[in-house]
Amino acid sequence: MKVSIIGGGGRVGSCAAFALQCGGVVSEIQLIDANVAMAEGEALDLLHGSSFSSDQRIYAGDYAKASDSDIFLITAGLRRKPDESRLDLINRNVSLFNQILDSMKVAGLCKNSIVFVVSNPVDILTQLAVQKLGLPWQQVIGLGTQLDTSRFCSFIADELQLAPTQVKALILGEHGDSMVPIWSSANVNGLPLTGLPQWNAGTQGKIFERTKGSGAEVIKKKGGAGWAVALAIRDTIHAIALDQKRLQPVSSLQQGTYGIRDICLSVPTVVGRKGVVEQVEIELWPKEQLGLQNSAKALKETLANVKG
Ligand code: 2OP
Repeated sequence: MKVSIIGGGGRVGSCAAFALQCGGVVSEIQLIDANVAMAEGEALDLLHGSSFSSDQRIYAGDYAKASDSDIFLITAGLRRKPDESRLDLINRNVSLFNQILDSMKVAGLCKNSIVFVVSNPVDILTQLAVQKLGLPWQQVIGLGTQLDTSRFCSFIADELQLAPTQVKALILGEHGDSMVPIWSSANVNGLPLTGLPQWNAGTQGKIFERTKGSGAEVIKKKGGAGWAVALAIRDTIHAIALDQKRLQPVSSLQQGTYGIRDICLSVPTVVGRKGVVEQVEIELWPKEQLGLQNSAKALKETLANVKG
């Protein structure tokens, strides 16, 4: 399984490469970046550790060497300023993203390639990729609220002083200001959150607000996300590479779940080698469904303003 990381010289792309190297599942990792020296430097640094990690091919390359990629991971993009919302990024990143899509088309895409978008605003850019690449919509996935979900679970675990790996609580909708916390199915090792003696409903608001603001908080403190987003990326790439049929909150073109269509956002999605296997309409509280519809509305309004 070959992964070409467009933006591989940047923080998110290089951290994702490191996570994939440590995961040892994919066999080839190519780093592509406009900053060629950075891509070469990151590839070299990763190569130096390969005798301790796994027998993958890791190298800096270019679009011409990417045409046989099983997965195109797109992390390239300008970062948000701390007080800037992801959607404000849209026009600064759209022209860059369109250039990337054009370069991918010139290089050629395998008909079974999966395109995995991380660049922000991820839902909008995922939709542009669906519109412009000519691949089946199922083969274009956005990281969506996968990272938000990880943050949400980590904060809940911290609040309860329990193991984060046992906390299952989804964020759905937009990877952005209108994201939706799904408390209705939140649980710890299958035990409903609300049934736990140490659970205090009064902390729900604090936990969700911290989750929603985490992107900006990390940007403010260290300039941008790296480690957690890399692990979130790896979780989905492994689901594709191993055809795991994992249920993940990733972004894809909606086909009618919760009455939402023709916009990319995150619903529970079964992910396998072919990309989106199924978009699953789990039972939600009415206010959670309303939140999803609000996400769809916000994203459609933004999409309408996208230039080019
Ligand atoms: C974040 O929330 C990178 O958008 C990503 O940090």
